Amino acid sequence: MDFSLTPLLVVTGISVALALVIVIVEKLIIKAGPVTLKLNDAEPKEIEGGGSLLGALKDEGVLVPSACGGRGSCGMCKVKVFEGGGKILATEAPHLTEEERGENVRLSCQIKVRENLVVEVPTELLDIEEYEVLVTGAEPLNHDTMRVTLTFGEGVEFSFRAGQYVQLETPIYDGLPAPTQRAYSIASPPQEKSSIDLIIRRVKRGVATTFVHDLIEVDDELTLSGPYGDFYLRDTPAEAIFIAGGSGLAPFEAILADMAAHKNEKNVTLIFGAVNGDDLYDLDKMRGYEETIPNFRFVPALSSPREEERWEGEVGLVTDVAGRLFESMEGMEGYLCGGPGMIDACIEAMTERGIREEEIFYDKFS
Ligand SMILES: Cc1cc2nc3c(=O)[nH]c(=O)nc-3n(C[C@H](O)[C@H](O)[C@H](O)COP(=O)(O)OP(=O)(O)OC[C@H]3O[C@@H](n4cnc5c(N)ncnc54)[C@H](O)[C@@H]3O)c2cc1C
Ligand code: FES
Repeated sequence: MDFSLTPLLVVTGISVALALVIVIVEKLIIKAGPVTLKLNDAEPKEIEGGGSLLGALKDEGVLVPSACGGRGSCGMCKVKVFEGGGKILATEAPHLTEEERGENVRLSCQIKVRENLVVEVPTELLDIEEYEVLVTGAEPLNHDTMRVTLTFGEGVEFSFRAGQYVQLETPIYDGLPAPTQRAYSIASPPQEKSSIDLIIRRVKRGVATTFVHDLIEVDDELTLSGPYGDFYLRDTPAEAIFIAGGSGLAPFEAILADMAAHKNEKNVTLIFGAVNGDDLYDLDKMRGYEETIPNFRFVPALSSPREEERWEGEVGLVTDVAGRLFESMEGMEGYLCGGPGMIDACIEAMTERGIREEEIFYDKFS
């Protein structure tokens, strides 16, 4: 080894280390002050750095959907970031397709605002508003599911498409650090504009659902934003299968009420899946739609009915029940709502039976 090079290597090493420190400090601290945000076609605007892009957009009145409240698990807070977003993080990677990466799509909740940003959000998000609502009803539907009615302020008309969802903010309780935002599908008809119903199932130790099931009271004031989402009934002649699991019935309640209001003649079968009879609700209401919607069939199905229930309806997983009802699903549309496991299994079963993946629409309750 040539020892004359040693001091040079040491100096170079120290310089590289110092440069790294400077870059890190610059990234973490210095650029956490004011930065500019250029949003869609608007002029760049100075904003405070340091928080998440999701929060910065909210401060600018742009309410990007964030069903998991910014934890990087729902993948719904996507926006395009052309400058200033840094590298794609490991938390974002599973939610981004190759095509989305090519189009600079990022999860806004995962991006820290540290440098000047150039961002594009879908224009429809610019119309989404935040509302103060009053809890005017909180009624148990079964052992773990509740219907909550939220009424808008005087004179407010909340317009939405049947199948869409809102983001409900539940307040701080039990020492939580901040309010919590979660997505809930609207269960009431779009013809009703002064209030909405949500159907909320308890999740063990879930932050928002514990509030709703244990603490909510009539006359509570809450905040929500919306409407969000593109889960709605397509206006096509194709026959449709709806599959709902648990509180996944919520958007279908809105869609069916809307179909009844318009005497929609689309051929529709709704399979409502549950474990046993204790998990079902609103059966009479759903059966009633067989009388008021011209070509509608309702099929409740239990995967493990108890003997004493003497259940005479369909038995099995919703995928098996759908397979028994439709040997071929070619040319049909699928609409799915419920937990991720059910949705993934249904997509697989439906594509195997001939439904094209583009004709399957879903809201995953992740
Ligand atoms: C578009 C959309 C629409 C939705 N609509 C509805 C609706 O109409 N009704 C409804 O009840 N929910 C709906 N959800 C789910 C809802 O947004 C929440 O995720 C759910 O209520 C749990 O919130 P939490 O704060 O109580 O639980 P968290 O505090 O978020 O979760 C606590 C723990 O439970 C796990 N967990 C979260 N959700 C579930 C689940 N569903 N089953 C099992 N474990 C879970 C989490 O991984 C975590 O470990 C919807 C979700 C999306 C994305
Ligand atoms: S808010 Fe859920 S992933 Fe960003």
